[in-house]
Amino acid sequence: MPFDLTIKKNVYQVFSDLEKYELETWINNAGFGMYGDVSTNQLAKIEAMLQLNIEALTIFSTLFVKKYNDTVGTQLINIPSAGGYTLVPTAVVYCGTKFFVSAFTEGLAQELIQTGAKMKAKVLAPAATKTEFGQIANNLTTYDYDQAFQKYHTSKEIAELLLQLYDSDYSVGHVNRESFTFELTDNRLPYAGQSKNNQSQYCSPEEEKQY
Ligand SMILES: NC(=O)c1ccc[n+]([C@@H]2O[C@H](COP(=O)([O-])OP(=O)(O)OC[C@H]3O[C@@H](n4cnc5c(N)ncnc54)[C@H](OP(=O)(O)O)[C@@H]3O)[C@@H](O)[C@H]2O)c1
Repeated sequence: MPFDLTIKKNVYQVFSDLEKYELETWINNAGFGMYGDVSTNQLAKIEAMLQLNIEALTIFSTLFVKKYNDTVGTQLINIPSAGGYTLVPTAVVYCGTKFFVSAFTEGLAQELIQTGAKMKAKVLAPAATKTEFGQIANNLTTYDYDQAFQKYHTSKEIAELLLQLYDSDYSVGHVNRESFTFELTDNRLPYAGQSKNNQSQYCSPEEEKQY
């Protein structure tokens, strides 16, 4: 189903169109990047990137969790980037959106584990991968990965890494952007799960109604 997911109503429409199916896995893969300094980046493209990389992904993830939280075997896999763990020069806004994806998804993964939910949330963070990404991120009609990068994965290789993550009990699959090794871990970001300084009372679902 082709939909422009920078438009919020389309995001809800896609999910609602899929309501009739029992879903096992949801992968938020749609996303794009943009190279260049923030001062010269096009604002309209920044807006679209926030809408797709962050807003659509968060709405889809939330709708999926609300529906499948307690269904055994369900997985939500979100795709940030190695640039969702390391700030890459000339890709600051893109990295910002991908840091959001890593943080949101790792936090959700921990929350699901701690609340005993049956669903799992996972992060796949690729480094450079030969797709249409480079062309779109640079506003070019052609793009040569061999010239642009010393190392990159093919999309088939990344699909195989995604299956490794899918089959594992780990929450994070991360491609190291220096060595291109694939690391499966529980989480990469610090998590304040046991801190005595956490809020001790939680907002009840009833209070959510005001929104
Ligand atoms: N390639 C890399 O080096 C790399 C590295 C790290 C992370 N990633 C991430 O991996 C994910 C996949 O990217 P890719 O490398 O496969 O790039 P790609 O070849 O450009 O594919 C991007 C995908 O996003 C979809 N998409 C883009 N804009 C959309 C919109 N407005 N509405 C709905 N769908 C939209 C595209 O759909 P259409 O084909 O219909 O346009 C396509 O399926 C992205 O989230 C990207 O940030 C890529």
